[in-house]
Amino acid sequence: MRLRVLLVSTILSGLIASLAMAQEKHPVYVGARACAACHDGKGMGHQYSKWLLTHHAHAYASLSKPEAVKMAQVSGIPQDPHEAPVCLGCHATAAEAEPWERDEAFRVTDGVQCEKCHGPGSEYMDAKVMSDRDAAVKAGLRIPTKQDCLKCHYVKGSHVAVHRKPALDVDKAWEILAHPVPPGGGPGASPAAAPKAAAAAGARYVGSYASSWAAHLKYSPRASSNTRLKFHVAPRFTSERS
Ligand code: HEC
Ligand code: HEC
Ligand code: HEC
Ligand code: HEC
Repeated sequence: MRLRVLLVSTILSGLIASLAMAQEKHPVYVGARACAACHDGKGMGHQYSKWLLTHHAHAYASLSKPEAVKMAQVSGIPQDPHEAPVCLGCHATAAEAEPWERDEAFRVTDGVQCEKCHGPGSEYMDAKVMSDRDAAVKAGLRIPTKQDCLKCHYVKGSHVAVHRKPALDVDKAWEILAHPVPPGGGPGASPAAAPKAAAAAGARYVGSYASSWAAHLKYSPRASSNTRLKFHVAPRFTSERS
């Protein structure tokens, strides 16, 4: 009798464990443009446009500056800065991630993007999840602190030797960088937030990478006959790419 109970409970716990594994979703990086489907326009507080105006949006591009080559030399890095993991670690997003951890529309060249600070978005970018902070955090959303800014913004000999800029005043920079959702804002507050396109974008990613690489291929943006994907690749994105 006892043995039977033991056996049943062993089988049950095995079953529960495998179910839990099947439900575990590994978040992937979707890119700032995917966040922009909702996080732009007046109602949401123009987060995407504001970010485009920051130095973070061209942090990767800065690796093409003549100063970049000098900084690499000072650091004893023989590679082209665009290929040096050390430089990319602070000047890009998800450069160190495996290719399958990045959506096909994701671009390393977009610099220090939303997800560098807020975490990879595939599992939290659903409108329902996003509106519930606990759920979003559980799905991988991070709310950064000033301590997180300092992980990149400390005085680096290689940088100061070349451009002689003072250390960043984090308190002041925090204010400058603020991109809050305005009071009374949020989903539906502005047509520019394009909730329909956004919902489509959200649905596309959530869980699509959960179980297998095959799922990824199925949802690949290259399958252009999928109207839902056309919706996601908004005109703004396609014109930029061509
Ligand atoms: C499908 C639409 C949608 C997409 C796509 C989306 N969000 Fe959101 N996000 C929302 C909504 C809705 C809220 C809640 C806004 C409010 O009412 O304050 C929100 C809130 C947030 C918050 C604040 C959370 C809090 O509790 O303070 C952050 C940070 C955020 N989003 C980051 C992102 C990032 C980064 C991406 C891209 C990876 C992204 N979002 C993609 C709809 C979206
Ligand atoms: C992943 C590394 C990283 C993190 C985290 C980070 N930054 Fe930056 N930040 C950069 C890089 C790289 C640049 C320079 C980009 C350029 O000009 O090419 C930069 C530039 C800036 C600038 C422009 C001023 C200047 O000296 O060029 C401000 C302001 C700034 N960051 C504020 C912040 C704040 C506030 C936080 C925290 C919320 C933060 N950063 C987090 C990497 C980071
Ligand atoms: C620990 C994070 C970190 C690393 C690693 C790093 N950078 Fe930076 N870089 C920053 C930050 C933060 C800024 C902006 C503040 C400053 O200039 O010090 C910046 C600024 C720059 C700038 C000036 C951008 C401008 O607007 O003029 C260049 C060029 C640059 N970095 C190149 C490089 C190169 C090349 C490497 C690799 C050898 C590298 N960085 C490694 C964080 C980093
Ligand atoms: C350099 C880091 C950094 C980047 C890049 C960044 N954020 Fe944030 N974000 C923050 C910080 C810091 C806060 C404020 C956290 C707090 O209030 O405690 C924040 C807050 C938010 C909020 C909540 C605002 C509110 O009402 O409280 C939203 C929404 C958001 N970010 C969306 C985005 C989106 C979308 C992008 C890309 C277009 C982005 N963020 C890029 C650091 C960043």
